Amino acid sequence: MTENLDLFSAPTPVDKAQPAIKIKALRDQLNTWAHQYYVLDEPTVPDAEYDRVFRELQALEAEHPDLITPDSPTQRVIGAVMEGLAPVRHAVPMLSIHTETDTEATGAQAFDARVRRELGLSESDPAIEYVAEPKFDGLAMSLRYEIGRLVQAATRGDGEVGEDVTHNIRTIRQIPLTVPEGVPPLLEVRGEVYMRRADFDALNERQREQGGKTFVNPRNAAAGAVRQLDSRITAQRPLSFFAYGLGAVTPASEGGPQFRTHFEMLQALKSWGFPVSAQVQIAKGASELVAFHRQVGASRDALPYDIDGVVYKVNRLDLQRDLGFKTREPRWAVAHKYPAQEMATKVEDIGVQVGRTGKLTPVARLAPVFVGGVTVTNATLHNLFEIRKKGVRVGDQVVVRRAGDVIPEVVGVMASGPRPAYVKNFRMPAQCPICGSDVVREKGEANHRCTGGLFCAAQRKEAILHFAARRAMDIEGLGDKLVDQLVESNVIRTLPDLYRLGLSSLVALERMADKSAQNVLAALEKSKDTTLARFLFGLGIRHVGESTAKDLAKHFGTLDALMGTSLETAATVEQLLEVPDVGPIVAQSVHTFFQQPHNREVVEQLIACGVRWPEQARGEKAPQILAGKTIVLTGTLPTLGRDAAKDMLEAAGAKVSGSVSKKTSYVVAGEEAGSKLAKAQELGVPVLDEAGMLALLSGQTPA
Ligand code: IVH
Repeated sequence: MTENLDLFSAPTPVDKAQPAIKIKALRDQLNTWAHQYYVLDEPTVPDAEYDRVFRELQALEAEHPDLITPDSPTQRVIGAVMEGLAPVRHAVPMLSIHTETDTEATGAQAFDARVRRELGLSESDPAIEYVAEPKFDGLAMSLRYEIGRLVQAATRGDGEVGEDVTHNIRTIRQIPLTVPEGVPPLLEVRGEVYMRRADFDALNERQREQGGKTFVNPRNAAAGAVRQLDSRITAQRPLSFFAYGLGAVTPASEGGPQFRTHFEMLQALKSWGFPVSAQVQIAKGASELVAFHRQVGASRDALPYDIDGVVYKVNRLDLQRDLGFKTREPRWAVAHKYPAQEMATKVEDIGVQVGRTGKLTPVARLAPVFVGGVTVTNATLHNLFEIRKKGVRVGDQVVVRRAGDVIPEVVGVMASGPRPAYVKNFRMPAQCPICGSDVVREKGEANHRCTGGLFCAAQRKEAILHFAARRAMDIEGLGDKLVDQLVESNVIRTLPDLYRLGLSSLVALERMADKSAQNVLAALEKSKDTTLARFLFGLGIRHVGESTAKDLAKHFGTLDALMGTSLETAATVEQLLEVPDVGPIVAQSVHTFFQQPHNREVVEQLIACGVRWPEQARGEKAPQILAGKTIVLTGTLPTLGRDAAKDMLEAAGAKVSGSVSKKTSYVVAGEEAGSKLAKAQELGVPVLDEAGMLALLSGQTPA
């Protein structure tokens, strides 16, 4: 007995076991969440919670490095760089599929007829059951699990020998590093590694911004990522995976699985944690294959990834065995294609488009080409540097890609055509093709921009919405739809037109009632009383956000000091750099803005329309007559907007608070003031109306 007690009091095994148990619990939790997030697309915890548990596991593993195993969620990216990719001989060869290039219904009918013939069926025999799947446009992968752990991932290669890419495949969150108990001790899962379209676009956008190499299509990006020697690079190229088959598996005679159909096998893969496409369906006979081809074809654009066709597979595994192979292609499967999403055509010209934010995009005008289901005549070239990198010139044969609803783009040059002598390298225009304002490209930026801002028709809607925003001129009721109508009907061309709006032109708009038109006019009138900071912010000068606008207003005090009375007397870049928190990019941008005659005109007209603000002496603060006072605003004031009142009070040094207490100096109450007014009266806090507040601001002591 005493010996036993001794054993129990021995500290070592218990202490060792504790962290191991904890580590396992944390890993299980993280794996469950990752499966829900990446495979099922049903996140169950906030990202922050996942991160917290992940860090907890990391910390525990750092304390107990001997407990780190390669299948821990913390070990997906391995730091080491490979010297090369080792060859891997596949235990079961990786096959290819016969491709049916007839993209019409007849393609599916021909396959069904062939299968029936080879099985010796007559017309009176029942329809064959197939499994219909999307044909994912990525690259085939074989994942080998031994005793529940991922031990090897290999590319298809020539079907017999592929390459070992385990280090990279481990970075794919959709691929489990461990599989649940009860899964056959030897399991090879076959499927497709691919890149989602959104991930591909984001990756290329990032590469473009950083001046790096862009990828031609998601398949190329995925293939490149999979074959990296450094898995840290792969980890930055988000890949996904779909399982669609098996390779070598523990035989049934040794306790392995005994599936009757392909579909059963897919269900098992799903239950073991592998992603299986939700598009997969059972289809009976040729007619249902045709329907599947149509249905998936119609939703092709809406799928988050590229497919280049669908695959039909005979569902019963015994029939698959009967049908066998012809060279390296099974007779029980076929790939039925869709029209291509990439086609070659000729560049006839290169034009420039101006976007809502002023970005200039070079656009290739193409000889019409049918690609991705539509006839394409224009394709984006993104920016000047992309054109140079790809070497695109007028007259060239190029590859155009249109996948999904994405804007068609030129992905590369096939052959440089005979170039007429007059064809020069493309150059960006120095003036905006829409408004004639200067075009600039900022240091470190790939994109050229029009400096016209609110003057440029292409940027008009965006500029008006920004001007009207609550933190800018605060024009209530001037929303998205109304601005669309006003700009499209040409009622508003520039910002000052807003203040020239009359009741009749508003009421003439569709679905605009008399009352709402009057409300808009009242809101416009009210917005005229503003501050210099709000006005500057509202102009939409690039890089001038709300706080920079405040800094500029405070530093220069008056608009004249900033913009000058002529081009020559406007603040110089050097003078702008004297403003606290203003750097070279902002200084240059403000300077360029006020050097555009159009912009000066707009500003002058706005003032002529009655936009005004209390001017401050240059570089000085308004007298801080309300310093130390706390004021609460409540209800609707007769003329001032809440933000305007707040700005005025703050400019005079007051603190504007949201709740009434004994420490509140004044409550300024308008119409429909509720509980705050009651609270003020209860506490004996002085209550002012708008007139009282204005009196207070002008230095009078309220009665
Ligand atoms: S089954 C027995 N199913 O297509 C055939 N392949 O040309 C084994 N692919 O290399 C493959 N989607 O990369 C199969 N649902 C799918 C597929 C698919 C895409 C690819 C795969 C393979 C190629 C065959």
